[in-house]
Amino acid sequence: MPPRKIIIDTDPGQDDAVAILLALASPELEVLGITTVAGNIPLSLTSLNARKVVEVAERRDIPIYAGCDAPMKQALTTAEHVHGQSGLDGYELPEPALPLQDTHAVDFIIDTLRSAPAGTVTLCPLAPLTNIATALQRAPDIAPRIAEIVLMGGAYFEVGNITPAAEFNIYVDPEAAEIVFGCGAPITVMSLDVTHRLLVTPPRVEAIAALGNRTGEVVAGWIGFFERFDTAKYGSQGAPLHDPSTIAYLLDPTLFTGRHINVEIETRSPLTRGMTVADWWGVSDRPANATFMGDVDAPGFFALLTERLAVLP
Ligand code: RIB
Ligand code: CA
Repeated sequence: MPPRKIIIDTDPGQDDAVAILLALASPELEVLGITTVAGNIPLSLTSLNARKVVEVAERRDIPIYAGCDAPMKQALTTAEHVHGQSGLDGYELPEPALPLQDTHAVDFIIDTLRSAPAGTVTLCPLAPLTNIATALQRAPDIAPRIAEIVLMGGAYFEVGNITPAAEFNIYVDPEAAEIVFGCGAPITVMSLDVTHRLLVTPPRVEAIAALGNRTGEVVAGWIGFFERFDTAKYGSQGAPLHDPSTIAYLLDPTLFTGRHINVEIETRSPLTRGMTVADWWGVSDRPANATFMGDVDAPGFFALLTERLAVLP
């Protein structure tokens, strides 16, 4: 079975970084490129951080493309309060040698989808959907060529994390999310309903720290910083590890359960901007447009993550 071709669209962010490392540690996946976008921190930092992360995996072969530096319509909202000023606080990494590609991320996404056989490239957005939506708006012909969009974003039962109604990735660029959820490509949603069940408890962090490789040390350092905000907010034993859920789904979809339902995005109300209105109970006649995950085998997820991180430098 040839590896599955993916593009990771990201705003690293410690949890994005773990997702990237999980993908690079997994031979079932071929990372065609990493595209960066403004989100957790501004674009200049998400792009710098993506370069640092691939160097943790010693994978300077992975091309990195900088993308959009602001949402399609909204002013940028960032999350330094969660991720720190650098976006990767928790472990000091050296300046990367890997340069950014000259091509813009949106052009890379369009060109890759147009040149690869239809249905062979999967998009994994871990951030606000600005790059993906801009590509779809500029080149609507790519929508039917996308194998699947496996994104981290949204919430239903867990409601919001950046506002009472909205999850951060969708809140930052709701207009982009509306375009993506309406594009017709198969969409799988790893929402807070799933990621809030993926708490990095002390035994789970200790297992990663005890791997004996530098990757284990780095990831444990990132988690140690990243978790302080959510553990204080939720009073939980560890913070939710959001973005790696998308990669784990690609590696073992049996870890997750969900429903194929209608998901619409609130873009008009300032109060509920970015809310994912998920018709979990099928009470509307709106057509299903996404597989919205609702549960996950958390021990199985962490066993997979820890086992894969062990193979990295
Ligand atoms: O709400 C969680 C999401 O917002 C994650 O992707 C995290 O990295 C931040 O981007
Ligand atoms: Ca992210």
